[in-house]
Amino acid sequence: MSATPLPSSSTVAVIGAGAMGSGIAQIAALAGHEVLLLDTRDGAAASAINAIQSQLTKLADKGRLTPEAAQSASARLCLATSLPELTHAALLIEAIVEDLAAKQSLFVALETLVSDTAILATNTSSISVTAIGAALKRPERLAGLHFFNPAPLMPLVEIVSGIGTDTAIAATLFATAKAWGKTPVHARSTPGFIVNRVARPYYAEALRLLQEGAADVATLDAVMREAGGFRMGPFELMDLIGHDVNFAVTRSVWTAFFHDTRFTPSLIQQELLEGGFLGRKSGRGFYDYREGADKVVAATEAPRVLNAAVTLHGNSEVTAALATRLSNTNTPLVSDAHSSDGRIATVGDAAIFITDGRSATQRAAESGVRNTVLLDLAFDYGSASRIAISCAQQCAPSARDSAIALLQTAGLQVSLMKDVPGLAVMRTVAMLANEAADAVNQGVCSAADVDSAMRLGVNYPRGPLAWAAQIGTETVRDVLQNLVHSYGEDRYRISPRIQQACYAGGGLHD
Ligand code: NAI
Repeated sequence: MSATPLPSSSTVAVIGAGAMGSGIAQIAALAGHEVLLLDTRDGAAASAINAIQSQLTKLADKGRLTPEAAQSASARLCLATSLPELTHAALLIEAIVEDLAAKQSLFVALETLVSDTAILATNTSSISVTAIGAALKRPERLAGLHFFNPAPLMPLVEIVSGIGTDTAIAATLFATAKAWGKTPVHARSTPGFIVNRVARPYYAEALRLLQEGAADVATLDAVMREAGGFRMGPFELMDLIGHDVNFAVTRSVWTAFFHDTRFTPSLIQQELLEGGFLGRKSGRGFYDYREGADKVVAATEAPRVLNAAVTLHGNSEVTAALATRLSNTNTPLVSDAHSSDGRIATVGDAAIFITDGRSATQRAAESGVRNTVLLDLAFDYGSASRIAISCAQQCAPSARDSAIALLQTAGLQVSLMKDVPGLAVMRTVAMLANEAADAVNQGVCSAADVDSAMRLGVNYPRGPLAWAAQIGTETVRDVLQNLVHSYGEDRYRISPRIQQACYAGGGLHD
């Protein structure tokens, strides 16, 4: 639905002048609104206004804003000390403590003060908008306006509708967020909304891989960054977010979904929390940030010499990328139209396949190809600097060495993982796509919005559904199916949307 944004001549009130409230106030003032900032903590709103004003001056000094824009936005920031001062606001955005009762009592008080046409918005990241609205006489004018931290920099805003939210109110907030330079997406008020739900597997699969001894944290982080194309590896990201915060979000999503095993929290993360290893902020988490601590590095295979014949099979993206990468290395290559067993390369005695969610050992047993070596997924096989591999237990050391030598000759650093099903990037991306598909299937958001939410809210290199389309929806389904067989857990159950797309031969965006 298209709607017009609130005019910049209207007043915006922001209640709660902490990290998020300050950022939101800055955005609204820059968009031309008079902004009233209120906080119950003595001096908090006044010092937030000072901090925003000096931030605006800095932006002007760096040339990111004109001095006039910075000055006029600064002048539009006003201190409020009591709720009745907010009466004339057209939009009131709550960014107070994350507590249902506190939010409800604030909105109940505001409802009696503001005009009939005023819009109420909550920045909550985990509380049901429906539950907050239940306390109101007119829940239809309340919606979630969920910014990401730091609000002035992060482009995404989730516009969250509760059961009672008027679609026209959600549409006005959508248009307003857009007018403020943000990229809004619509979401239904369900646990975690879009981003905090769909991102769970990024942490969860990494924690499961660690628990299974698939590789150490530095290696898994390096694989996710250098092969997967993610900006930060899952362990360094959890250390940055803080395990108290990250664990609480996981726990709240898991509890809200009635303990759906998809979201089961990790014992490893719980132990870090119990030990006070909160991450960067406490000096220790998965990594040690204290002065003088040893830096841990990813496990990388020592150089091997390629002295076996190489055949590249088929014309898949990965074969083409390997051919290009090997083209200026003087490696004699034989190209073969395709192989009957789906391998992408044969090097000496080794057969290299892309993981399909089975372990290499299972695959070798089922195919009779003892020297099976599996490659993990890469964001772009042409430009990746690292790749994870696993070898069947039946695989001869000489075959393993030939496979490693080939990949090294192609310019890749190789991380040899324990033979776990689905390796790291493939398994994580399949589970992200599965969760994204389920969110769409359950009417939480549109397919296009889940992709832009994950790119803009958590900086993923590609939207999960677009990624699934690139890998092939059937491959994603097979990976998940094989994970179900390997673990026997409901956690890996395949989204009906993925199954239907495979039966229909269509994509996940259709
Ligand atoms: P914060 O702790 O930095 O700020 C909260 C502020 O609200 C404090 O200054 C506090 O004094 C004030 N406050 C508490 N109760 C109040 C009341 N009844 N009336 C007026 N002021 C009151 O918290 P933060 O991080 O800014 O979070 C605020 C909200 O935004 C929470 O709902 C949180 O879940 C949500 N959020 C937080 C994100 C983050 O990364 N920090 C990201 C997105 C949403």
